[in-house]
Amino acid sequence: MSETRFVVEPGGRLTGRIRVPGDKSISHRSIMFGSLADGVTEVSGFLEGEDCLATLNAFRAMGVRIDGPAAGRVTIHGVGLHGLKPPAGPLDMGNSGTSMRLMSGILSGQAFDTVLTGDASLSKRPMKRVTAPLAQMGARIETTERGTAPLHIRGASGLHGIDYVLPMASAQVKSCLLLAGLYASGTTRVTEPAPTRDHTERMLEGFGYPLVREGERTFSVGGGHRLGATAIDVPADISSAAFFLVGASIAPGSDLTLEHVGINPTRTGVIDILRLMGADIEVQNPRTVGGEPVADLRVRAAPLRGIRIPEALVPLAIDEFPVLFVAAACAAGETVLTGAEELRAKESDRIQVMADGLVAMGIDARPTADGIVIQGGAFARGAEIATHHDHRIAMSFTIAGLRGAGTHVIRDAGFVDTSFPGFVELARTAGIDVRAERSA
Ligand code: S3P
Repeated sequence: MSETRFVVEPGGRLTGRIRVPGDKSISHRSIMFGSLADGVTEVSGFLEGEDCLATLNAFRAMGVRIDGPAAGRVTIHGVGLHGLKPPAGPLDMGNSGTSMRLMSGILSGQAFDTVLTGDASLSKRPMKRVTAPLAQMGARIETTERGTAPLHIRGASGLHGIDYVLPMASAQVKSCLLLAGLYASGTTRVTEPAPTRDHTERMLEGFGYPLVREGERTFSVGGGHRLGATAIDVPADISSAAFFLVGASIAPGSDLTLEHVGINPTRTGVIDILRLMGADIEVQNPRTVGGEPVADLRVRAAPLRGIRIPEALVPLAIDEFPVLFVAAACAAGETVLTGAEELRAKESDRIQVMADGLVAMGIDARPTADGIVIQGGAFARGAEIATHHDHRIAMSFTIAGLRGAGTHVIRDAGFVDTSFPGFVELARTAGIDVRAERSA
């Protein structure tokens, strides 16, 4: 099988104005809600990455007419909550945990059986966190003995609401159960240990579905209402912007503006953490677009210092840690992360895989059970980086190249297409010397 590698030369600075692709979490949900709504939903700014296309193709396979995507525009002809049809075969979720976990909630409420499969990385990721509470609601789902995909989901299970306290801070688990709750009798009530991204809650409200909020961490829905189609303008993904927030912070002489970035407060931990480290980030022109806060972010190079990362910020920056570790490697002094064991269950074990890459580049990075300790300093050499099928590892080490000490090679980098199609071109436009090579 051919492999895409990134070759990154050291140096460079980031300047100008760029817009990164659409938000992955909101794009997934726009397809799910649009498909299950009554009426036609128009989406703009949709992320045409492989993860969101896996969700889109799954709904197409269940009989939903979806036009596009073309230049970020998608038109979804909703079939209503009970209008999906049995797919002809298994639904392939590719590399996408969000697709698999949220879809398992929706599919548990259908009248027909389905099978969800995934790639090598997704097939290793824990699914019990959704299948166990769904079983409490009456769902019948078979997994492997390890609790992993493929998931065989039986239809016509007759779901009932439960009151569930999540054992971990996970927007995917919360969203899965709320979506199953649309099909359940009675009330489905979820409480999370700490606030996580709230796009599902916002979108339920945007589609006119009654949602009850009790404080900041408890949400409930009752079954039997309907979703009304609406228009969705997907902002640029702060998780993709994060690579450039770090890049412009660590590359001397940088002055970069990221346009139209979603700054939902459940997603902005990366800005808070970088500011605590001394970053110079200005939030310009804040506005609300389709129920989500959006702004332009101007970031200029600044000397960073190591910090102890507040644990309350962990769920609010959960996808940004790989690149934050690069920031820590370039900061003066020690950075300590705790309370982040969830990072070991992402597309790769992001604590171990990042530590291995940073060590290969000459940084003192020591993994702990629930975090990492990084001594900031200078990269000593270029290295060959293994990404373990993880898009964010590939992009984080591309950013590290800005302060690199030699050419480095990032193996298996094609996975960036799951969340950030066009990454190499945009990174080059902004000022990073990176090229993609295909090897046999
Ligand atoms: C997501 C939630 C997060 C995040 C993932 C997208 C979502 O996962 O890591 O990339 O869209 O709900 P967890 O909720 O499992 O932490």
